[in-house]
Amino acid sequence: MTSYQIAIIPGDGVGIEVTAEAVKAVDAAALRYGFDVSYSDYDLGGRRYLATGEVLPPSVQEELAGHDAILLGAVGTPDVPPGVLERGLLLKLRFDFDQYVNLRPIKLYEGVPTPIAGLTPDRCDMVVVRENTEGLYSGMGGVFKKGTVHELATQESINTRVGVERVVRDAFERAGRRRRKLTVAHKTNVLPFAGDLWWRTAQEVHADYPDVDLDYVHVDAACLYMVNTPERFDVMVTDNLFGDIVTDLGAAVQGGLGLAASGNLDPTHAHPSMFEPVHGSAPDIAGNGWANPVAAILSAAMCLDHLGEEAAAAAVESAAAGILPELKTMGGPDMGMSTSQIGDVIAQRVAAT
Ligand code: NAI
Ligand code: MG
Repeated sequence: MTSYQIAIIPGDGVGIEVTAEAVKAVDAAALRYGFDVSYSDYDLGGRRYLATGEVLPPSVQEELAGHDAILLGAVGTPDVPPGVLERGLLLKLRFDFDQYVNLRPIKLYEGVPTPIAGLTPDRCDMVVVRENTEGLYSGMGGVFKKGTVHELATQESINTRVGVERVVRDAFERAGRRRRKLTVAHKTNVLPFAGDLWWRTAQEVHADYPDVDLDYVHVDAACLYMVNTPERFDVMVTDNLFGDIVTDLGAAVQGGLGLAASGNLDPTHAHPSMFEPVHGSAPDIAGNGWANPVAAILSAAMCLDHLGEEAAAAAVESAAAGILPELKTMGGPDMGMSTSQIGDVIAQRVAAT
C-alpha cells in the first residue's frame, strides 16, 4: 500500500480547528481509496513563539523536509509582532523548500453567495499561479538614515529568468489540462525591466505549448475583469506581490475566506509542498466552532492531488463543495453547523463515495 507522511502545522486560533477537519477528510479518503497516511504534529506558530521564542528551529525544518507534504492551518496571535511568523516561518518554508508555485483556485461553487451580483458558477472557474519565491518578497533592499527626516527605504523586486520560466511552464502545463488559455498579468507599461522578462519568457515558452492560447493583461485591469468578466480567465500567471493581491480579490469573488484554498508547490517533488487555507487564525471567532473548515479541506484535496491521489482528491473536493449549499452562512455563529459537524459530514460523504 502506498504510504504518505504528512506534517501537520495547525498553528493558532481557527487554524487548529480547521486542520483537525482536514485530517478527518484525508483519513476518510485514505481508507476509501486504499492508501496509508501517517502524521507528525508540529506546534509551530504564535503559541510556540510566545512560549519559547522559537519560530522555526533548524532541527524542526530538517524533520519537515523528510515529509511528503505539509498541511498548515494558520499562524498568528494578536500578541506576536507582525512579520515574525510571516517571514520566519511561512516565507522561509516557501523559499527553502523551493515551493515556487503558489496555486490558488478561484471557483464559485454552487450555492455560495458571491458579492458580485448576477455571477453564476459557470462564469467563475479560474486558477491563479503566483510566483512564490522571488519578486518583491525576496527581502532584497535596505534602509538608510533610519528614523531621520532623510530616511530612505528600498524594496527590490527580484525576477530571474530561471524563476520566471519555471513558473510560466507550470502555468502552461495547467492550462493545457484545463480550458487551454493562459493569461500573464503584470505591469509591462510601467515596470519595463521585470515586465519584459515576464512577457518575453511567456512568449518563448509558448512555442512548446502551441495548443494553449496566450494572453496578457495589466494586473490592475485584471482586477476589474475578475469582478465583471471572470469567465475570460482560465489560468493566470503573475508575480509574487501581484498574485498575493489578486488572489484576495479572488477569495472575495468566490464567496469569502472560509472557502479559499491554496497550495505552495515544489512541482519537482524534491521538497515537500505545503497546503493551507488562505485565511488567518481569525482570533475574532476562534474557539467557538464558527470557522468554516471547507477552505482547509479543499487545501487538503489539493495536497492529495499533488501526491498523485487524484480520485481521492476529487472525492474530497466534491464532498467539501457539496456541503456549501446546506450552510446558512459561509462562516461565523449563524452557519447552521459547527466546524466539526461540517468536517464530520464531509468525511462521511468521502467514505461513502
Ligand atoms: P483572518 O483571515 O484571520 O480573518 C479575517 C476575517 O475572516 C475575520 O473576520 C475572520 O473571522 C474571518 N475568517 C477567517 N477565516 C475564516 C473561516 N475559516 N471561516 C469563517 N470566517 C473566517 O485575517 P486577520 O484577522 O487579518 O488576521 C488574524 C491573524 O491571522 C493575524 O495574526 C494574521 O497575522 C494571521 N494571518 C495568518 C495567515 C497565515 O497563516 N497564512 C494569513 C492571514 C493572516
Ligand atoms: Mg495574501
